[in-house]
Amino acid sequence: MTDAHRQHLRNRPRRTRRTPALRGLVRETTLSVTDLIWPVFVRDGDGIEEPIAAMPGVSRLSVDKAVEAARMAADLGIPALCLFPYTAMEDRTESCEMAWDPDNLSNRAIRAIKAAVPEIAVMTDIALDPYNANGHDGIVRDGVIVNDETVAALVRMGLAQAEAGADILGPSDMMDGRIGAIRDALESHGHSDVAIMSYSAKFASAFYGPFRDAVGASAALKGDKNTYQIDPANRDEALRMIARDLDEGADMVMVKPGMAYLDICTQVRDSFGVPTFAYQVSGEYAMLEGAARNGWLDGDKVMMESLLAFKRAGCNGILTYFAPRAARLLAG
Ligand code: PBG
Repeated sequence: MTDAHRQHLRNRPRRTRRTPALRGLVRETTLSVTDLIWPVFVRDGDGIEEPIAAMPGVSRLSVDKAVEAARMAADLGIPALCLFPYTAMEDRTESCEMAWDPDNLSNRAIRAIKAAVPEIAVMTDIALDPYNANGHDGIVRDGVIVNDETVAALVRMGLAQAEAGADILGPSDMMDGRIGAIRDALESHGHSDVAIMSYSAKFASAFYGPFRDAVGASAALKGDKNTYQIDPANRDEALRMIARDLDEGADMVMVKPGMAYLDICTQVRDSFGVPTFAYQVSGEYAMLEGAARNGWLDGDKVMMESLLAFKRAGCNGILTYFAPRAARLLAG
């Protein structure tokens, strides 16, 4: 650069990066506590917090502890939590009838949390994997995950969750036609106010590994989920699933996993303009937290950067195991 050139450089983007005040003025995206949904693992028992090996810092909580966690989350300003039940191998069956038992673990947890902490929104997971002897999200007949029979089971499961007091149902099973069937059942059973956040663009991902350990599904799971979850190579198909689920009555849609799928998040938000959420899944948590605990990354910084990236990509909110930690940092 010549002296003359330097004198006449009009465009110096660094001017607005010079101080925190100026950087704040031009900041395009913010992360707020109201963007966070906290996934919580529940298990049987009383007074139990059982650490999950592949998710350091995350535990399975008995219902009483989950209620305490909900209180803490609400006090931090976290708007919603999402419940995932852990089921031991001996409580799983091929017909999965525990999934729609009004007194199953997640329905007991919904009732206990809504009674003690009514202001926090409780979201559920609709899929048969916590109750299935073979670990799949759907009913298996002769090695095939049968669609329509599964949808009928999912409808019963969703109705039981709505009756227990869930605010948001989260069908994560990827069967065809389940959103419409669940929506119709909610409408005809007096639950027209219960919202659906559809796991619409849910990819067949290896990033779910630690979660499957956390809910006890790894040992049970036979084969893979490639006949119902989306091929990670496919973007158009993911967008078609979003369109379909909106058409069937989803109020909010989700992209899952998150960090490796931000392109999908952006396209969903830009194309549909609907409430769009991403799930920063167990494997993403494990990567960041594992590296941080080894001293290889600054844990707080990568956590906040990763969450902000979801907002920049166009998401309205993020399901993240980091929710309470991020909330505390945001509170300063
Ligand atoms: C199952 C379900 C999965 C997750 C949420 N619901 C796992 C799977 O599809 O095998 C993954 C969440 C995570 O990895 O954090 N229906």
